[in-house]
Amino acid sequence: MAVLLDEKKSLFTLYTRNSMYQMKVDNLGVLLHTYYGKRTEIIDYSYLISWKDRGFAGNPYQAGNDRTYSLETLPQEYSCFGSGDYRASALKIRYHMGARALELRYVRHEILEGKYGIPGLPAVYAQEGDRADTLVIVLKDDVSGVFVYLYYGVMENLDVITRAVRIENRAENSIFLERALSMCLDQLYGSYDFLTFYGKHEMERKLSRAHIHHGVQSVGSVRGTSSHHYNPFMILADRSATETQGNCYGFSFLYSGNFLAEAEYDQFNQTRVLMGIHPDNFEFELKPGEDFWTPEVAMVYSDAGFEKMSQAYHHAFRNNLCRGKYKKARRPVLMNNWEGTYFTFTGEKLVQMAKEAADLGVELFVMDDGWFGKRDSDESGLGDWYVNEKKLGCTLAELSDRIHELGMKFGIWFEPECVSEDSDLYREHPDWAFIIPGRKPMRGRYQLVLDFSRQDVRDHIFAQMCEVLDNAKVEYLKWDFNRSISDVYSAVLPADRQGEVSHRYVLGLYEFLEKLGRRYPDMLIEGCSGGGGRFDAGMLYYTPQIWCSDDTDAIERLKIQYGTSFAYPVSTVGSHVSACPNHQTGRVTPLDTRATVAMAGTFGYELDPMKLTAEEKVQIRQQIATFKNYYDLIQDGKYHRLTNPFVDEVYTVWEYAAEDGSEALMSVVATKIYANEASIYVKLRGLKEDRYYLLNGERYLGGALMYAGFRMPEATEEYQSWNFHFVEEK
Ligand code: DGJ
Repeated sequence: MAVLLDEKKSLFTLYTRNSMYQMKVDNLGVLLHTYYGKRTEIIDYSYLISWKDRGFAGNPYQAGNDRTYSLETLPQEYSCFGSGDYRASALKIRYHMGARALELRYVRHEILEGKYGIPGLPAVYAQEGDRADTLVIVLKDDVSGVFVYLYYGVMENLDVITRAVRIENRAENSIFLERALSMCLDQLYGSYDFLTFYGKHEMERKLSRAHIHHGVQSVGSVRGTSSHHYNPFMILADRSATETQGNCYGFSFLYSGNFLAEAEYDQFNQTRVLMGIHPDNFEFELKPGEDFWTPEVAMVYSDAGFEKMSQAYHHAFRNNLCRGKYKKARRPVLMNNWEGTYFTFTGEKLVQMAKEAADLGVELFVMDDGWFGKRDSDESGLGDWYVNEKKLGCTLAELSDRIHELGMKFGIWFEPECVSEDSDLYREHPDWAFIIPGRKPMRGRYQLVLDFSRQDVRDHIFAQMCEVLDNAKVEYLKWDFNRSISDVYSAVLPADRQGEVSHRYVLGLYEFLEKLGRRYPDMLIEGCSGGGGRFDAGMLYYTPQIWCSDDTDAIERLKIQYGTSFAYPVSTVGSHVSACPNHQTGRVTPLDTRATVAMAGTFGYELDPMKLTAEEKVQIRQQIATFKNYYDLIQDGKYHRLTNPFVDEVYTVWEYAAEDGSEALMSVVATKIYANEASIYVKLRGLKEDRYYLLNGERYLGGALMYAGFRMPEATEEYQSWNFHFVEEK
């Protein structure tokens, strides 16, 4: 068991391969947090806590005359609003008399074999062979009748600890959750950096690193989705932490809706980290006997910098979060017609494209937006999920058959959560869209959002989609979502329950995806939200890959994929080679560089193959062969960020190293050229120090490559790229 209880000391210790996490129930029954960090012998870490009489720090009545006992200064495991801890809290509940103060005290605990699951929400799961245990600590507040169940999933070999909370109402009246975060972590001391991932449409997940300073610092989303603008992933790190050195703590929120990621540095230089559903516009009623599960947070501690943390996430997300056939099965190299045709295509045009694609070695042809209802632009048609046979010039089954005859799989695009005002669905059911009565709704890309908190709405869309999917052979589905949510109002919920809609929406989305995945277990579903607007660990539970960004420019992608790689493995990153000049930036990059960059993802093409030259076709055939050749190394190898594209301006370099260090592929892109430039060296990682590696007939000592480095080649053309495959000499 990776959960140990020292009953005498009321001490709970959780440990994974490298980390240890500890809590202690004190004399008053308060659950204190005592330690999270490197794994050591088990000792009682509460010796670190200082007990001092602090001015203006309130003392609970039960502490008697002990003025050194204050919830404001002690490290809390799950902080509550209103009873003397004035720092940012994890839980705030309004109960029968309208008060909000809670005093949670220990009741009991349970230690269970295996990893807990959460009904209706994504969660990291244990696979056969994994060592996983669950600790549940039950706390209660006597006055309100609130019971809180703190869940800890201890995944020993994965080096991951997960947290989630179940809140139960055992009172005779309703209670109202106003803030129900998934985790709180108090660090007694330390000067930390707060690393978050910000961005925008077409430039997601840029790394922001700042010293934590006194006060509260936060990022989050109130857009209804996790968003392009901030990712539900954050890192708390030593100020000196680098890729390979220093302590850091990762926190990944397995949720695709509004979120808050917060850090507070308090008066005594203690740091509190919080993560959970954003409290804005959130209020959830629990009737007597009802309960509420918060989404899960997956935490990873690394004592050796960001790389070790990222690799733990990569492994866990690839193997213990993604599900379904394509978790393991090789993903097909695809061609998507979006940037090749946009809305302007016919079935015949697609078949011609597919013919060329098949000839190049592409394995899956994807028909993107524009095949349904009245959809020749983004102004109409969403919600009418019936095939526009007039536009295609054939049925979907016929089109799919023709593509299959070419030896390819076939896939299509949907945007199930949205509706165009110019659609039959909207004309029939205007109340199915989020609209606040009496107001004109916000439009986003001309479209409105369907109320996916409603079962009837979801069932209708599901039935429409099944009708399409059951009548043609479809092996891939792209699930898109092209706006932020606003006008959150559900016509079927009473006024005092409107605060539940955003969360119920996400639960509805998950229920839909779960049902879809079960009905079509062989179908590969790719998530998308205008690119990476919903690139989060929650979605990965349902869609093992997500279109990373609408920005397909290879040079911009270096930055986007760099930020993405801190939490998410290559196997989840949708990435395509597109045409040049690039449609987003106008930049021209070599075709091979576009492929090198797209290979750090699921790999595919998004262009009109009819426009390729003979020389380009030769190159593409070679690229596909190369990708297939390195597939296992790229998808399952350890990913190393060897440079930082935001800082190192001349080369961006990354590496995939075999788990056992027997080979490594190093990809290099020249991002700037200067005349007479000084030589630049990059150190590889993950090799065997004392073994030799072969590269193009030369021998290199592993230790030399790692500690002295490898001289970067000189670029002779702008944005040139290279792939160096080092193979251990036998
Ligand atoms: C946004 C997606 O990110 C694109 O790839 C494409 O599918 C368009 N939507 C289609 O409308």
